Amino acid sequence: MPEADSGDAKNFQTDVPPPADGFFLKGSGSLDWGMSNRLSRIFRPETGRTVMLAIDHGYFQGPTTGLERVDISILPLVPLADALMCTRGILRSVVPPSMRTPVVMRASGGPSILKELSDEQIAIDIEDAARLNVAALAVQVFIGGEHETQSIHNLTRLVDMGLRYGIPVMGVTAVGKQLTRDAKYLRLACRIIAELGAQFVKTYYCDEGFDTVTASCPVPVVMAGGKKLPELDALTMASRAVTEGAAGVDMGRNIFQSDNTEGMMRAVTAVVHERKSPQEALEIYRSHRAAPVGHSSTR
Ligand code: R5P
Repeated sequence: MPEADSGDAKNFQTDVPPPADGFFLKGSGSLDWGMSNRLSRIFRPETGRTVMLAIDHGYFQGPTTGLERVDISILPLVPLADALMCTRGILRSVVPPSMRTPVVMRASGGPSILKELSDEQIAIDIEDAARLNVAALAVQVFIGGEHETQSIHNLTRLVDMGLRYGIPVMGVTAVGKQLTRDAKYLRLACRIIAELGAQFVKTYYCDEGFDTVTASCPVPVVMAGGKKLPELDALTMASRAVTEGAAGVDMGRNIFQSDNTEGMMRAVTAVVHERKSPQEALEIYRSHRAAPVGHSSTR
């Protein structure tokens, strides 16, 4: 028998107003609980930023430098990342399901580096994404590219599917060989991606006017790393991006092509979350230089 429920013993704390805080990410206050929860796994609520490790390059580049053996070079870094961006093939074949780092899954594909890259299609079923417990889906959008409309359609279909399952979509501004990466172009691309429903956007950094790119995008923007730079330059770029409004980074080559991948992960994290200066972060990078390949790390 359940015990009698005495109304006199209850404490409704009627003098304490319930919390009415908005969600911590910009433009994200009207999302459903599941989607907000997934975003909170990718972006740290205490800083509002993320350090994503991008290793999805093989979906069109094959075993690119640094990703020849993901099991050896990448798995030790995964616990250090706020999120891992990868394909479902690598996830199932290489990444142990006991991993606790959330996954941002590459969800578009088609052409290899031998073909016209903008000719992509959606490359995963939303039910498989749910089965894999992904925290977000990522789709390339080729504004100004040959297959611009098709890539936009990939984005909007993925957003619709994501909304049904509570899975956010990250739209990626793909910059083809002919397209410039100036603020005018990146503003156009990021804004279109946000207007068409992506919950967050990934874009490249530009030296002039990046703050106008983040300011005119109503949802969080994360910075892609781009081609490998000297470590101090990469840390400086990440630092400037965050100062100019980025909600973190989604970096690949500048981490996995570094001669000290663990040190670089820790240095980027220090820049993004602790707002260490690039020079301070470089010291962190150097101080972890001794870690051997395959060394197991803790977060
Ligand atoms: C490239 O197409 C992939 O989407 C990468 O995830 C993205 O470019 C970020 O990697 P990286 O920092 O190497 O540019």
